[in-house]
Amino acid sequence: MAIKKKLQGKVAIVTGGASGIGETTARALADHGARAVVIADIQSEKGRAVAESIGLQRCAYVQCDVADEEQVAAMVEWTATTYGGLDVMFSNAGTLAGSPQTILELDFSEYERVMRVNARGMAVCVKQAARKMVETGTRGAIVCAAGAAAEKATVSVTDFVMSKRAVLGLVRCASLQLGKHGIRVNSVSMGAVLTPLAARHGIETPADVEEYIGRYTSLKGAMLTAENVADAVAFLASDEAAFVTGVDLKVDGGMIAMPFDMSN
Ligand SMILES: NC(=O)c1ccc[n+]([C@@H]2O[C@H](COP(=O)([O-])OP(=O)(O)OC[C@H]3O[C@@H](n4cnc5c(N)ncnc54)[C@H](O)[C@@H]3O)[C@@H](O)[C@H]2O)c1
Repeated sequence: MAIKKKLQGKVAIVTGGASGIGETTARALADHGARAVVIADIQSEKGRAVAESIGLQRCAYVQCDVADEEQVAAMVEWTATTYGGLDVMFSNAGTLAGSPQTILELDFSEYERVMRVNARGMAVCVKQAARKMVETGTRGAIVCAAGAAAEKATVSVTDFVMSKRAVLGLVRCASLQLGKHGIRVNSVSMGAVLTPLAARHGIETPADVEEYIGRYTSLKGAMLTAENVADAVAFLASDEAAFVTGVDLKVDGGMIAMPFDMSN
């Protein structure tokens, strides 16, 4: 039986598509029949290589800093002009501080760098994608990468948690305000996936992930993969989710359902 293609004929942008979850999702959207997938990232060599491996007849790389509104507006315009519209924005680009960021040692240059990409960059991409969809009368879908950290305290990445909570606020406001245009806005909150970003957070090996699962997820015996996240994004981006908006879809193995540890 042929696999149902969820995104037949759609034009999609994936920010941060040169690596990790973004790269896997760009491939998944293409596999689901997207007419075009544009990878917007600051890593040009990797971004180009991913676009080439998907196939340049329906995938392109555009160098773009998601926090720079002019660059994002130009990238969105180029996408819509080249491929005849914009249906899906996966606003996924994100970063993490290079050192522990407890409140006692918060380094505000790192804080500003993280917030610039994770909070401002997310708002810039949602704004510019939404403006294009409104202008063209497209009932599009926007999906933002939040993270399980949006719902939890962490011992070392205060700035990251703050930035991901900002994404939830953005999604709620944007979904409310864009609903009258038929534009849906949702987020995915993933647990740990082995990517360069997770490695910076000390989650690098399968053993680190095993420990993470043991401690934080209800669902045992499996590691979260970038493909699992890509499946959730493809669903939210597709017409199967035609009545889903303002939602944070958790792809975290049931982290929210973990019990309190009353033992100490
Ligand atoms: N991997 C995890 O465990 C995890 C957990 C929770 C949330 N997330 C979120 O998922 C998203 C993807 O993360 P990942 O793990 O794939 O990370 P990754 O580091 O593999 O990929 C992030 C991509 O974003 C790009 N990027 C960074 N700054 C940018 C900018 N200013 N403009 C354009 N592109 C930029 C990077 O070049 C990179 O290609 C992020 O938003 C991240 O916060 C990941």
